[in-house]
Amino acid sequence: MKSDGISIDIRELRQEEASEVRDMIMSGLCQQVASHRAVIKFLRMPVGWLWVGFLVVSFCSVTNSVRLASVTSAAVLCLFVTRALLYVRYRYRRYFERLELQDLYTWYGTRAGSKFWVAVCEGKIIGTIALHRTSDNAAQLKRMTVLPSFRQRDVATCLLKHCEEYCGTQGVERIHLRTSRFQEDAIRLYLKFGFAITKKFTFLLNMEKLTC
Ligand SMILES: CC(C)(COP(=O)(O)OP(=O)(O)OC[C@H]1O[C@@H](n2cnc3c(N)ncnc32)[C@H](O)[C@@H]1OP(=O)(O)O)[C@@H](O)C(=O)NCCC(=O)NCCS
Repeated sequence: MKSDGISIDIRELRQEEASEVRDMIMSGLCQQVASHRAVIKFLRMPVGWLWVGFLVVSFCSVTNSVRLASVTSAAVLCLFVTRALLYVRYRYRRYFERLELQDLYTWYGTRAGSKFWVAVCEGKIIGTIALHRTSDNAAQLKRMTVLPSFRQRDVATCLLKHCEEYCGTQGVERIHLRTSRFQEDAIRLYLKFGFAITKKFTFLLNMEKLTC
């Protein structure tokens, strides 16, 4: 397959490549969210919201506004409980994500309809993409990343095309994915490739593409 002047081969992940690929995915993810990481961490931690509440209530007591202080306390308490529940769910999901990343080869190799592909250029892995079958006619796109020195040369586009072609042969009519709002390059690419945003969360976005 030709991608902007370079010749790439797309094939399935081999067992001995799994840890190299995991490191590549992790560094790709970190680069995109690094500048927002501190803010994300703060807002995700329920304790962060308690601090916000504490500061607001302190301000209210300084300005002698009892009503504002009680309304704020109630709001902060609700936020704290909601955040705490979301945080438990987030940790639970991260646990499974870690299991997946620890052994990508087994995770994708042993699940029917799930695949993990790598893009190889002159023997070097330069990009990755995975597909996780979520129902008879739907699959989730995951783990797309391209080495920084090979970006903006259509490598990810080739991987997406490959994935879509595979879906066509497997009766997958809907490809969906979740990404973070901070992965702006990826969002632009997905939109260009025909994905639409289906749901927006605080930090995350759900997107999908119908293939037929
Ligand atoms: C997102 C990523 C995979 C794109 O890979 P890529 O091979 O550079 O993408 P392509 O060359 O196929 O890009 C095609 C389109 O994507 C968009 N795009 C990709 N990178 C972009 C950038 N740096 N700036 C602006 N648009 C960009 C553009 O619309 C581009 O089309 P154009 O060149 O005609 O403008 C790559 O930047 C990456 O690995 N990022 C870190 C990991 C990540 O965010 N993964 C997504 C997880 S959901």
